[in-house]
Amino acid sequence: MEEKGLKRDVQKHDKGLKGQTGPQSIVVREFELADTPEVQRIFYEGLMEMIPDTSLRGLRHHPESLLLYTAITVVCFVITKCWWVIGLLPAIVLCGRYFYSRRVIHGYLEQAMSRDMGDMEGFYMKSPDSCLWVAVQAGRVVGVVAAVVQQGAGAVELQRMCVARSCRRCGVGVALGRKVLQFARAHRHSHVVLGTTAYTNAAHRLYQRLGFRCVGVTNGYVTPGARRYLLEQMFYRVRHHRYCIDLQNNKT
Ligand SMILES: CC(C)(COP(=O)(O)OP(=O)(O)OC[C@H]1O[C@@H](n2cnc3c(N)ncnc32)[C@H](O)[C@@H]1OP(=O)(O)O)[C@@H](O)C(=O)NCCC(=O)NCCS
Repeated sequence: MEEKGLKRDVQKHDKGLKGQTGPQSIVVREFELADTPEVQRIFYEGLMEMIPDTSLRGLRHHPESLLLYTAITVVCFVITKCWWVIGLLPAIVLCGRYFYSRRVIHGYLEQAMSRDMGDMEGFYMKSPDSCLWVAVQAGRVVGVVAAVVQQGAGAVELQRMCVARSCRRCGVGVALGRKVLQFARAHRHSHVVLGTTAYTNAAHRLYQRLGFRCVGVTNGYVTPGARRYLLEQMFYRVRHHRYCIDLQNNKT
């Protein structure tokens, strides 16, 4: 009974673009204006997760940063001859990394809000070369993804993939990713590309599961919104993975 009600609810919104209907009844449909607050909330929460991800988890992926912090510690010790400086420096470094990650990610958020995420309807839904979808589960928006055709490149770029924390590992990410692949095929594009600075396994595994392969990594990637001050460059350093899927050779 409840499930029937849910299906009716979802079908009302669905424009015939069902993503995946598994046991959890995930429906992927085109974005509607009324989804704005939920989509922005999911996007905001996903971005905020990047702060500890970049500042703490990211550290072990950057031996060059560890080397720099060690060199700073040695120089400080030589100058001050104080042991407590040695004890304090790791905490200062972690605080610095957290502070600058937070600043860059807030800058990124600001830029996104003044660009596409502040006007999703205008940015994604008015042109046939782009689209934004939401995943709906139990009548609630639980995920978002966008696709934008890269003019001249014959490829579609997957953007803004994010799933509400409480609804992860239920296939929402896969359903959203498949919708983008479906869009690219329908528009006769041969490739779908994307970039990510995430260090968590979740994002990388999801893209690999969808059939993407990593085609390049940029160490020291300049995140949009970063100011590139010296201290920022010392404490905020990320790797950018580029993924691509060749749709002609992939049936995912
Ligand atoms: C990445 C993200 C979109 C995945 O969404 P999701 O709905 O949990 O993904 P799915 O349930 O469809 O999982 C698909 C596959 O991804 C992998 N995966 C997902 N979460 C994982 C995790 N925490 N650890 C390891 N693998 C994971 C698994 O291979 C999984 O398949 P399985 O469950 O059959 O093993 C979600 O974790 C998220 O929104 N993270 C924050 C924002 C982000 O990192 N976005 C991507 C940046 S570009």
